[in-house]
Amino acid sequence: MSSDPVTFTVFTSERTATRALAERLQDHLNAKCGLVLGLPTGRTPIPLYKRLVALQRVGRIDLSGATTFNLDEFWGIGPDHPGSYRAFMTRHLFGSVPISPERIHFLDGSASDAAAECARYEDDLARAGGIDVQVLGLGANGHIGFNEPGQFLHARTHLASLKPQTRRANAGLFGHDVSRVPLQALSMGMATILQARHIYLLAVGRRKSRAVRGMIKGPLTPRLPASFLQLHHRVEVFVDRSAAEGL
Ligand code: GLP
Repeated sequence: MSSDPVTFTVFTSERTATRALAERLQDHLNAKCGLVLGLPTGRTPIPLYKRLVALQRVGRIDLSGATTFNLDEFWGIGPDHPGSYRAFMTRHLFGSVPISPERIHFLDGSASDAAAECARYEDDLARAGGIDVQVLGLGANGHIGFNEPGQFLHARTHLASLKPQTRRANAGLFGHDVSRVPLQALSMGMATILQARHIYLLAVGRRKSRAVRGMIKGPLTPRLPASFLQLHHRVEVFVDRSAAEGL
Protein backbone atom coordinates (compact mmCIF):
# COMPACT_ATOMS: atom_id res chain seq x y z
CA MET A 1 0.00 0.00 0.00
CA SER A 2 1.55 3.33 -1.03
CA SER A 3 1.78 6.13 1.51
CA ASP A 4 0.58 8.59 -1.10
CA PRO A 5 -2.78 10.18 -0.32
CA VAL A 6 -4.06 9.18 -3.76
CA THR A 7 -4.07 5.55 -4.92
CA PHE A 8 -2.62 5.23 -8.40
CA THR A 9 -1.78 2.43 -10.81
CA VAL A 10 0.73 2.71 -13.64
CA PHE A 11 -0.18 0.73 -16.77
CA THR A 12 2.14 -0.22 -19.60
CA SER A 13 0.00 1.58 -22.17
CA GLU A 14 -2.96 3.85 -22.68
CA ARG A 15 -4.90 0.82 -23.90
CA THR A 16 -4.38 -1.22 -20.73
CA ALA A 17 -5.16 1.78 -18.49
CA THR A 18 -8.37 2.42 -20.43
CA ARG A 19 -9.39 -1.23 -20.31
CA ALA A 20 -8.79 -1.43 -16.57
CA LEU A 21 -10.94 1.63 -15.97
CA ALA A 22 -13.69 0.28 -18.24
CA GLU A 23 -13.67 -2.92 -16.19
CA ARG A 24 -14.00 -0.93 -12.99
CA LEU A 25 -16.98 0.93 -14.45
CA GLN A 26 -18.45 -2.39 -15.54
CA ASP A 27 -18.29 -3.61 -11.92
CA HIS A 28 -20.02 -0.45 -10.67
CA LEU A 29 -22.73 -0.62 -13.35
CA ASN A 30 -23.40 -4.27 -12.63
CA ALA A 31 -23.43 -3.74 -8.86
CA LYS A 32 -25.97 -0.91 -8.85
CA CYS A 33 -28.91 -0.56 -11.13
CA GLY A 34 -29.56 3.17 -11.65
CA LEU A 35 -25.93 4.14 -11.11
CA VAL A 36 -25.31 7.90 -11.30
CA LEU A 37 -22.21 8.54 -13.40
CA GLY A 38 -20.27 11.79 -13.69
CA LEU A 39 -18.55 12.00 -17.08
CA PRO A 40 -15.72 14.00 -18.63
CA THR A 41 -14.86 15.07 -22.16
CA GLY A 42 -11.44 15.50 -23.79
CA ARG A 43 -9.34 13.22 -25.96
CA THR A 44 -8.43 10.91 -23.07
CA PRO A 45 -11.89 9.38 -22.48
CA ILE A 46 -12.59 8.74 -26.18
CA PRO A 47 -11.10 5.18 -26.11
CA LEU A 48 -12.89 4.60 -22.80
CA TYR A 49 -16.24 5.50 -24.35
CA LYS A 50 -15.43 3.29 -27.32
CA ARG A 51 -14.81 0.44 -24.91
CA LEU A 52 -18.06 1.08 -23.04
CA VAL A 53 -19.97 1.02 -26.34
CA ALA A 54 -18.32 -2.35 -27.13
CA LEU A 55 -19.17 -3.72 -23.66
CA GLN A 56 -22.77 -2.59 -24.09
CA ARG A 57 -22.97 -4.32 -27.50
CA VAL A 58 -21.87 -7.66 -26.08
CA GLY A 59 -24.17 -7.31 -23.07
CA ARG A 60 -21.48 -7.00 -20.40
CA ILE A 61 -22.87 -3.67 -19.24
CA ASP A 62 -26.28 -2.07 -19.47
CA LEU A 63 -26.21 1.70 -19.54
CA SER A 64 -29.96 1.97 -20.07
CA GLY A 65 -30.60 2.26 -16.34
CA ALA A 66 -27.76 4.69 -15.64
CA THR A 67 -28.08 8.42 -15.08
CA THR A 68 -25.29 10.71 -16.26
CA PHE A 69 -24.10 14.20 -15.41
CA ASN A 70 -21.40 15.77 -17.53
CA LEU A 71 -18.80 17.84 -15.77
CA ASP A 72 -18.83 20.94 -17.89
CA GLU A 73 -19.96 22.77 -21.01
CA PHE A 74 -18.83 25.78 -23.03
CA TRP A 75 -20.67 28.99 -22.31
CA GLY A 76 -22.30 30.89 -25.16
CA ILE A 77 -23.01 27.93 -27.45
CA GLY A 78 -26.06 25.69 -27.49
CA PRO A 79 -26.24 21.89 -27.26
CA ASP A 80 -26.60 21.60 -31.05
CA HIS A 81 -23.33 23.41 -31.74
CA PRO A 82 -20.84 20.80 -33.07
CA GLY A 83 -18.15 22.11 -30.69
CA SER A 84 -20.31 21.65 -27.61
CA TYR A 85 -19.48 18.93 -25.11
CA ARG A 86 -23.04 17.75 -25.51
CA ALA A 87 -22.36 17.08 -29.21
CA PHE A 88 -19.05 15.41 -28.26
CA MET A 89 -20.85 13.03 -25.90
CA THR A 90 -23.48 12.18 -28.51
CA ARG A 91 -20.70 11.38 -31.02
CA HIS A 92 -18.63 9.27 -28.65
CA LEU A 93 -21.13 7.64 -26.30
CA PHE A 94 -24.75 8.67 -26.05
CA GLY A 95 -25.45 8.16 -29.76
CA SER A 96 -24.37 4.51 -29.50
CA VAL A 97 -25.84 3.26 -26.21
CA PRO A 98 -29.49 2.84 -25.20
CA ILE A 99 -29.51 5.52 -22.54
CA SER A 100 -32.73 7.49 -22.44
CA PRO A 101 -32.39 11.25 -23.02
CA GLU A 102 -34.12 12.16 -19.76
CA ARG A 103 -31.35 10.43 -17.83
CA ILE A 104 -28.62 12.47 -19.53
CA HIS A 105 -27.85 15.69 -17.70
CA PHE A 106 -25.91 18.59 -19.08
CA LEU A 107 -25.19 22.18 -18.26
CA ASP A 108 -26.77 24.39 -20.93
CA GLY A 109 -24.23 26.79 -22.40
CA SER A 110 -27.02 28.75 -24.08
CA ALA A 111 -29.00 29.44 -20.89
CA SER A 112 -29.83 33.10 -20.35
CA ASP A 113 -28.63 33.28 -16.74
CA ALA A 114 -25.41 31.44 -15.82
CA ALA A 115 -25.97 31.57 -12.06
CA ALA A 116 -29.50 30.20 -12.38
CA GLU A 117 -28.29 27.46 -14.72
CA CYS A 118 -25.55 26.44 -12.25
CA ALA A 119 -28.08 26.35 -9.39
CA ARG A 120 -30.44 24.26 -11.54
CA TYR A 121 -27.63 21.73 -12.15
CA GLU A 122 -26.76 21.46 -8.46
CA ASP A 123 -30.48 20.88 -7.72
CA ASP A 124 -30.75 18.18 -10.40
CA LEU A 125 -27.65 16.48 -8.99
CA ALA A 126 -29.06 16.52 -5.47
CA ARG A 127 -32.42 15.19 -6.72
CA ALA A 128 -30.63 12.29 -8.44
CA GLY A 129 -29.04 11.39 -5.09
CA GLY A 130 -25.54 12.63 -5.95
CA ILE A 131 -22.88 11.06 -8.12
CA ASP A 132 -21.92 7.44 -7.41
CA VAL A 133 -18.96 7.27 -9.76
CA GLN A 134 -17.19 10.30 -11.16
CA VAL A 135 -14.78 9.76 -14.05
CA LEU A 136 -12.25 12.53 -14.61
CA GLY A 137 -9.63 13.54 -17.13
CA LEU A 138 -6.83 15.93 -16.24
CA GLY A 139 -5.83 19.20 -17.87
CA ALA A 140 -2.10 19.56 -18.55
CA ASN A 141 -2.20 22.56 -16.20
CA GLY A 142 -3.83 20.46 -13.46
CA HIS A 143 -7.41 21.50 -14.12
CA ILE A 144 -10.36 19.24 -13.42
CA GLY A 145 -13.53 19.89 -15.41
CA PHE A 146 -13.01 23.59 -15.98
CA ASN A 147 -11.71 24.31 -12.50
CA GLU A 148 -8.68 26.25 -13.70
CA PRO A 149 -5.53 26.99 -11.67
CA GLY A 150 -5.73 30.28 -9.79
CA GLN A 151 -5.65 31.89 -6.38
CA PHE A 152 -8.83 30.23 -5.24
CA LEU A 153 -11.22 27.52 -6.29
CA HIS A 154 -14.98 27.54 -6.69
CA ALA A 155 -16.79 25.07 -4.50
CA ARG A 156 -19.91 24.74 -6.62
CA THR A 157 -21.00 24.75 -10.23
CA HIS A 158 -19.99 28.09 -11.70
CA LEU A 159 -19.07 30.13 -14.78
CA ALA A 160 -15.30 29.84 -15.36
CA SER A 161 -12.91 31.84 -17.53
CA LEU A 162 -10.71 29.58 -19.60
CA LYS A 163 -6.91 29.91 -19.68
CA PRO A 164 -5.30 30.36 -23.11
CA GLN A 165 -3.65 26.92 -22.73
CA THR A 166 -7.04 25.31 -22.07
CA ARG A 167 -8.62 27.07 -25.05
CA ARG A 168 -5.74 25.84 -27.25
CA ALA A 169 -6.22 22.28 -25.94
CA ASN A 170 -9.91 22.44 -26.94
CA ALA A 171 -9.37 24.01 -30.38
CA GLY A 172 -9.83 20.63 -32.09
CA LEU A 173 -13.57 20.87 -31.35
CA PHE A 174 -13.71 24.21 -33.18
CA GLY A 175 -11.98 23.40 -36.45
CA HIS A 176 -8.54 23.93 -34.82
CA ASP A 177 -9.28 27.66 -34.69
CA VAL A 178 -8.55 28.78 -31.13
CA SER A 179 -10.30 32.11 -31.70
CA ARG A 180 -13.57 30.19 -32.00
CA VAL A 181 -13.18 28.43 -28.63
CA PRO A 182 -15.48 30.14 -26.10
CA LEU A 183 -13.77 32.28 -23.47
CA GLN A 184 -15.90 30.87 -20.68
CA ALA A 185 -17.51 27.61 -19.62
CA LEU A 186 -19.83 26.26 -16.96
CA SER A 187 -18.25 23.67 -14.69
CA MET A 188 -19.05 21.63 -11.63
CA GLY A 189 -17.05 23.03 -8.72
CA MET A 190 -14.38 21.19 -6.77
CA ALA A 191 -16.69 20.48 -3.82
CA THR A 192 -19.37 19.22 -6.24
CA ILE A 193 -16.80 16.81 -7.70
CA LEU A 194 -15.43 15.76 -4.31
CA GLN A 195 -18.93 14.79 -3.17
CA ALA A 196 -18.95 11.85 -5.59
CA ARG A 197 -18.79 8.51 -3.77
CA HIS A 198 -16.02 7.14 -6.00
CA ILE A 199 -13.66 9.08 -8.24
CA TYR A 200 -11.54 7.64 -11.07
CA LEU A 201 -9.08 9.79 -12.99
CA LEU A 202 -7.48 8.72 -16.25
CA ALA A 203 -4.34 10.49 -17.51
CA VAL A 204 -2.10 9.41 -20.36
CA GLY A 205 0.92 10.83 -22.11
CA ARG A 206 4.01 12.80 -21.09
CA ARG A 207 2.06 16.07 -21.46
CA LYS A 208 0.24 15.16 -18.24
CA SER A 209 3.23 14.04 -16.15
CA ARG A 210 3.80 17.35 -14.34
CA ALA A 211 0.12 17.63 -13.40
CA VAL A 212 0.03 13.96 -12.34
CA ARG A 213 3.02 14.48 -10.06
CA GLY A 214 1.52 17.64 -8.51
CA MET A 215 -1.82 15.93 -8.02
CA ILE A 216 -0.32 12.95 -6.19
CA LYS A 217 2.87 14.23 -4.55
CA GLY A 218 2.41 17.98 -4.34
CA PRO A 219 0.83 20.22 -1.71
CA LEU A 220 -2.86 21.05 -1.84
CA THR A 221 -2.99 24.20 -3.91
CA PRO A 222 -5.55 26.01 -6.05
CA ARG A 223 -2.66 26.46 -8.49
CA LEU A 224 -3.12 22.77 -9.30
CA PRO A 225 -6.82 22.06 -8.72
CA ALA A 226 -6.39 18.28 -9.11
CA SER A 227 -4.28 18.28 -5.90
CA PHE A 228 -7.57 18.63 -4.00
CA LEU A 229 -8.41 15.05 -4.95
CA GLN A 230 -6.05 14.14 -2.09
CA LEU A 231 -8.95 15.05 0.22
CA HIS A 232 -11.15 12.29 -1.15
CA HIS A 233 -10.98 8.86 0.47
CA ARG A 234 -12.00 6.85 -2.59
CA VAL A 235 -10.06 8.21 -5.52
CA GLU A 236 -8.07 6.06 -7.91
CA VAL A 237 -5.78 7.32 -10.62
CA PHE A 238 -5.09 5.27 -13.76
CA VAL A 239 -2.00 6.41 -15.66
CA ASP A 240 0.21 5.08 -18.42
CA ARG A 241 4.02 5.05 -18.12
CA SER A 242 4.50 8.39 -19.82
CA ALA A 243 2.05 10.21 -17.55
CA ALA A 244 3.74 8.55 -14.55
CA GLU A 245 7.23 9.80 -15.46
CA GLY A 246 7.37 12.32 -12.63
CA LEU A 247 6.33 9.87 -9.92
C1 GLP B 1 -10.97 19.77 -21.10
C2 GLP B 1 -12.06 19.29 -20.16
C3 GLP B 1 -11.50 18.50 -19.01
C4 GLP B 1 -10.53 17.45 -19.52
C5 GLP B 1 -9.38 18.14 -20.20
C6 GLP B 1 -8.28 17.21 -20.68
O1 GLP B 1 -10.44 20.98 -20.75
N1 GLP B 1 -12.85 20.37 -19.67
O2 GLP B 1 -12.56 17.90 -18.28
O3 GLP B 1 -10.09 16.64 -18.49
O4 GLP B 1 -9.92 18.83 -21.31
O5 GLP B 1 -8.42 16.92 -22.02
P1 GLP B 1 -7.60 15.82 -22.81
O6 GLP B 1 -8.07 14.52 -22.33
O7 GLP B 1 -7.94 16.09 -24.24
O8 GLP B 1 -6.17 16.07 -22.51
